[in-house]
Amino acid sequence: MFSKKEIEDIRREYPFLNLKPNGKDIIYLDNGATTQKPKEVLDNIQNFYETENGNPHRGAHYLAMVSTEAYEGARARVGKFIGAKSPNEIVFLRNATEALNLIAYSYALNNLSEGDEIVISIMEHHSNLVPWQRVAEKTGAKLKYLYVDEDMQIPFSEVEEKIGKNTKILSLTGASNVVGTMPDLDKIFKYTRENSDAKIILDGAQLVPHKKVDVSKLDIDFLVFSGHKMYSAMGIGILYGREDLLNSMEPFLSGGDMIEYVYEDKTTYLPSPQRFEAGTANVEGAVNLAAAIDYIERIGMDRIDEYEKYLTDYAYDKLKKLDYLEVYTTSNKNRAPVISFNFKEAHPHDVASILDTYGIAIRSGHHCAQPLHRFLGSNFSCRASFAVYNTIEEIDYFVEHLEDVRRLLGIES
Ligand code: ALA
Repeated sequence: MFSKKEIEDIRREYPFLNLKPNGKDIIYLDNGATTQKPKEVLDNIQNFYETENGNPHRGAHYLAMVSTEAYEGARARVGKFIGAKSPNEIVFLRNATEALNLIAYSYALNNLSEGDEIVISIMEHHSNLVPWQRVAEKTGAKLKYLYVDEDMQIPFSEVEEKIGKNTKILSLTGASNVVGTMPDLDKIFKYTRENSDAKIILDGAQLVPHKKVDVSKLDIDFLVFSGHKMYSAMGIGILYGREDLLNSMEPFLSGGDMIEYVYEDKTTYLPSPQRFEAGTANVEGAVNLAAAIDYIERIGMDRIDEYEKYLTDYAYDKLKKLDYLEVYTTSNKNRAPVISFNFKEAHPHDVASILDTYGIAIRSGHHCAQPLHRFLGSNFSCRASFAVYNTIEEIDYFVEHLEDVRRLLGIES
């Protein structure tokens, strides 16, 4: 566990903490949407443009080569971070959404047909749901959902019932952005391998920032995640895929940098990763993600995980005691650092707006998970989500001001 002094040192690295929204110290509890960035990751952006800015893979001059080295070095760094066998298994994209769409378009549309089944869970973010609806519409495949029990866990009977020889895709979140559930991936993936020839996709958008994910230990075909939820810049996301599988897939976008030879009437493509990286890359983002990974590993992923769990358990226990709230987050302590809740008698946007006047940032809305909210019996919720720079004092301040929300809205019960 971090000492108070260590947390103070960590917080000193975050310039955003000097902001005073509405004249108050900022309490940023919207880390599930995007994390803030430490100084060294911010400085890395400036450094890239001052010393490494060229267009990679194009040109024999100094900056083109430096930029190529920086870009490919970042790819190797990301590959090492998740235990990939080769940097060729790491594709730089815009975000996890683009990565999921790439799999849907380049793999699923070309390989699925009527009678096939796609399995996801009811907890999926729209980015791991809408593309599969579109694949199902276009191919005639059927989309099936793994539902959760009252504690937001997937009962194994759901897996046994929904996954079978017709399953061609299992695409599952590693951590729900609303209810925090971390499904038992090893068990579900093992069952899927033994009972189907499905391709297994792990949506790591809310998992990779919090827990060590090692693709050499998880039996999966694809992993997707985003940089901006793990202390890096926006606009950089990762598709990990098994190299043979990636090389068997059609390109998603086409144009410069992904080709081998172009003739007037046909084109041959480079293998992965270039095959999927048409156009000038987000080199700054790739290099920045590598810097954020250095930052995370310097602090220690396990220590970050332990500390975030401590904050989450503390907040969960406090919120559960308030009888005017309904808390949706799972009680299972193996969970992502997100607490979703509703005032029984107030709209989440009112709650979030009032908290904002005290400098507190939470998210309100459907969190890109409308089917899950419908399943929970509500259209929207409030969500507080934590990162390494949050503190117990901030959680106390947030919980105290829930009382002000209650008072200002005239809620008596
Ligand atoms: N997917 C992000 C969230 O859960 C934006 O807030």
